[in-house]
Amino acid sequence: MTTRITIRRPDDWHLHVRDGEMLKAVLPYTAKEFGRAILMPNLVPPVRTREDAVAYRARVMAALPAGSRFTPLLACYLTDETDPDDVERGFRDGVFTAVKLYPANATTNSAAGVSDYRKITRVLERLEKIGMPFLMHGEEVGADIDIFDREKVFIERRLSKWVKEFPGLHMVLEHLSSKDGADFVKSAAPQVGGTITPYHLNLTRTDWLGAGLKPMMYAMPVIKTACDREALRKAATSGAACYFLGTDSAPHPFARKIAINGVPGIFNAPVALATYAKVFEEEGALDKLEAFTSLNGPKHYRLPPNEDKIVLEKSPWTAPVEIKVAGADERTLVYRGGETIEWKVVE
Ligand code: NCD
Ligand code: ZN
Repeated sequence: MTTRITIRRPDDWHLHVRDGEMLKAVLPYTAKEFGRAILMPNLVPPVRTREDAVAYRARVMAALPAGSRFTPLLACYLTDETDPDDVERGFRDGVFTAVKLYPANATTNSAAGVSDYRKITRVLERLEKIGMPFLMHGEEVGADIDIFDREKVFIERRLSKWVKEFPGLHMVLEHLSSKDGADFVKSAAPQVGGTITPYHLNLTRTDWLGAGLKPMMYAMPVIKTACDREALRKAATSGAACYFLGTDSAPHPFARKIAINGVPGIFNAPVALATYAKVFEEEGALDKLEAFTSLNGPKHYRLPPNEDKIVLEKSPWTAPVEIKVAGADERTLVYRGGETIEWKVVE
């Protein structure tokens, strides 16, 4: 039985580290295990311009533990007003790595997202021209759309058209949550890649809603059926280059997470790699873990993989229930907090 595996250092292609005290509290969990991460721009206010990104990156660098070699990669929050010239300038000088689409009101801090798709055509044309990746929160939001169908409808109404309209546009459908999503990415690879979270690989909507309501399992896109989870597990563990790691670790203040009108987002950075390892072991695919965590993502982003390695060991530990955030009794709940975690990053 495999009890120890060595893999190239992973990267996280979809991560929320927020700002201020929350940033300081959560960033070290990612920085100690991952080489790079795409930092999501849905701050309040969002990272909308090159200038916003320069300032945010400085705050992130200041929050890194001393001696850390972690590299933050920033995404530009797309709005109806985004200026293609500003995006291009940010990409050319390395401030931006990608542009991120949030359909307006699809998820946390997405109110300033895209509300009129006709207005982003010039940006998409520019991204195609300069070879800059386009990241999508792939959900169509509308009164007529059931929340479990949002990903599927987004693919039908938007993504399947963009693939043809912008054949040179390099895209990522983020946090795949359905069989439809996983199948579409496969069919549109290598133009389209897809990230998969630890919680969409691990949970079903019955876990979330079937034995008491678990606010900690509420995220966008919502967790779906066992059949969807099965398709995602098969996709992630297949070794196919179009699927790669994106934790969507998304901390929220405790009170907002468990409120009557609670917010979507699951803080999983402390257990992310351990949870992926558990899933790959359960699927008999530990030999494919490194491709998913450390090789497929860089390839899709046309970046070199990390040179150094990490070691994972099968050695049980208990995940913390919450982590403290400086400020008035602030804290954030941890995904799988209090559970025995099978795998551990040891070096
Ligand atoms: C994310 C957040 O909290 O910022 N929430 C979530 O449910 N995944 C935003 C996102 O990626 O949708
Ligand atoms: Zn996210």
